[in-house]
Amino acid sequence: MESPPVTQTLVGSHKFDLDTPALCIDLDIMESNIEKMASYMTTRGKQWRPHVKCHKTPAISWKQIKAGAIGVTSAKVSEAEVFAFAGITDILIANMIIGEKKHRRIAALCKIADPIVACDHYSQAEMLSRICVEVGVKCRTILEVDIGLERVGIKPGIDTLELAQAIDKLPGLDLVGIMGYEGHLLRIKDQDEKKAKIGAAMQILAKTKDDFDKHGLNCEIVSAGGTGSYQITSDVDCVTELQAGGGIFAEPFYLEECCVSDLESAVTVLASVVSRPVLERAILDTGRKTIYPDIFMPKVKGIEGTNIVALSAEHCKVDLEGAACDLKIGDKIELYPGYNDFTTILHENFYGFRNDVLEIVWPTAARGKIQ
Ligand SMILES: Cc1ncc(COP(=O)(O)O)c(C=O)c1O
Repeated sequence: MESPPVTQTLVGSHKFDLDTPALCIDLDIMESNIEKMASYMTTRGKQWRPHVKCHKTPAISWKQIKAGAIGVTSAKVSEAEVFAFAGITDILIANMIIGEKKHRRIAALCKIADPIVACDHYSQAEMLSRICVEVGVKCRTILEVDIGLERVGIKPGIDTLELAQAIDKLPGLDLVGIMGYEGHLLRIKDQDEKKAKIGAAMQILAKTKDDFDKHGLNCEIVSAGGTGSYQITSDVDCVTELQAGGGIFAEPFYLEECCVSDLESAVTVLASVVSRPVLERAILDTGRKTIYPDIFMPKVKGIEGTNIVALSAEHCKVDLEGAACDLKIGDKIELYPGYNDFTTILHENFYGFRNDVLEIVWPTAARGKIQ
């Protein structure tokens, strides 16, 4: 019999006995966030299709599904495969997929799951249709509409309607609706203004749905919303499901930059003080290869007088004042990543703790799945 990976033999250890750096989840906090997000959607009559990019870990998706999520949202075909192989069937690939190789992978995926593939151009849908017919499967598709993000997405109005009508005629595909992502509106600080702007963006989806309905096109799914907006977007009538994912970790970016309320940060990176060159500076073993600082700077958990000022490849520089100057070489401290997605992909495992005792080690299974 194969021996378990060495990480699993650590189960039962106290958090501060782990070697560093290590990516840690407080399971009680994450589970509470999952429950809160699930019930937020349910109360408003919406379905929850959380994005997997923040955790890349099927076991966490299963916790969300047990709490009421209908499936998952993913960004890549190879990422979707990991979740399908883990038994999750309702998978939205919320990205533009091109090229025969990827469309063949999607057709294969249709044999074990029921994916939905977003598109914004006839050429993407036409190739997927041809391959699905050849393989003998049907694949659900939705149109991504540009609701102001100016990333991907077909222009709303007649362009969207004509594309939908053309795709609806393609064999091997099943047009099921539309999506839009209001990612450009997450950081608006004035909550009335944020509500108004998200409302206006969602009106574009509402109008598109009306057009679909009037022309006999199936629009059973209207998918939108991220963590930075779900507390507003889930009040919009036309929206049927929310893609908000990262809220289960609720890192500072969401709580401080996007003003998301009622959730608590669940992920930390356990770090060691490796150098104390001067009284007012500590150097940690958590540089940019461990924690991604560019969207929102990491923060030290629970130690007053600490201020992370810079990260290089392998070092994190923390300014200290007051009692924080007592930190010694070898001390372990925790950092909240400012924004988790890009930190998750730097780590092989999540270490899941309850009351600071290691309960589970989850490989970040879809890490590196970028095709
Ligand atoms: C298509 C799409 N949906 C939803 C989200 C929101 O994800 P999260 O809730 O993890 O912020 C994003 C974020 O980039 C996205 O690109």
